[in-house]
Amino acid sequence: MARIFDAEILSNEEVAEKIFRLTVDAPKLAEIARAGQFVQVKISDEFTLRRPLGIASTLGGHVKIFYRAVGRGTEILSTKKVGERLNILGALGNGYTPREGKVLLVGGGMGLAPLLLAAEKFSTDVLMGGRNQGEVLFWQDEFKPHAEKIFITTDDGSYARKGFAIDLLPDILAAGNYSAILTCGPEIMMRGIAKLAHEKNLPCEVSFEKRMACGLGACLSCSIDTANGRKKVCKDGPIFDAKEVFDYATDNQKN
Ligand SMILES: Cc1cc2nc3c(=O)[nH]c(=O)nc-3n(C[C@H](O)[C@H](O)[C@H](O)COP(=O)(O)OP(=O)(O)OC[C@H]3O[C@@H](n4cnc5c(N)ncnc54)[C@H](O)[C@@H]3O)c2cc1C
Ligand code: FES
Repeated sequence: MARIFDAEILSNEEVAEKIFRLTVDAPKLAEIARAGQFVQVKISDEFTLRRPLGIASTLGGHVKIFYRAVGRGTEILSTKKVGERLNILGALGNGYTPREGKVLLVGGGMGLAPLLLAAEKFSTDVLMGGRNQGEVLFWQDEFKPHAEKIFITTDDGSYARKGFAIDLLPDILAAGNYSAILTCGPEIMMRGIAKLAHEKNLPCEVSFEKRMACGLGACLSCSIDTANGRKKVCKDGPIFDAKEVFDYATDNQKN
């Protein structure tokens, strides 16, 4: 059940250009959080709306969040200092389905945040894509203690394989024995991955992002159309079975 936590900031540091790792002391939140869930952070009294951010790690009762400074809210968050307190609502949403066997995590950019918690909790390999070396190196360090194998691509070829994560997927699936694919990142990436998973008859769960207001299922601002009718990303998601939200026959998304 979601609760409000008043959490002390333990660190808030820039790990790549405009990308920050925020760690807060929140043992109760860490205890209840499932991989794929998110929190709504109250950043300042200047904003009526909280900002949704994925829960990336819960080790040792510390909740880690990774965020890209893209607008006023995340810019202000990046100025918060160690020792300040943050008002956090969580854990929200449904989370990935726990599975037997090894799962393949496929993430692009900030989509790797909720997958890190999946790597802490499940047996995994991870395929990650980023724009350049700076945007994948810190993720590699974060995943190293948890994922068995790590496959990396960069858009500009400045590190590991040049290209997109999906380019490596056919070979990885051919060599591995996975019970499911869990993915988070740009929709176009997730749609391509879901299609390949479907062709291989593998379960695939995707993480959806919509602009959110309440985060609790009350305001309908995050509604999407799915194969099973209208759903709220904040409450029914953000994790969906890929079949529910993507149409493989036509390559079109359902919403
Ligand atoms: C369930 C969920 C989990 C998320 N997890 C993360 C995370 O772990 N790390 C992270 O960096 N970001 C995450 N986001 C996106 C994050 O919420 C937005 O980047 C943030 O709210 C922007 O706030 P702002 O005030 O800085 O920017 P604003 O001034 O509000 O907007 C700046 C830019 O960001 C875009 N933006 C704002 N909100 C969203 C959104 N919900 N989805 C996509 N684009 C948005 C706007 O269109 C605009 O272009 C998540 C979003 C959702 C819905
Ligand atoms: S954000 Fe209000 S219903 Fe989802």
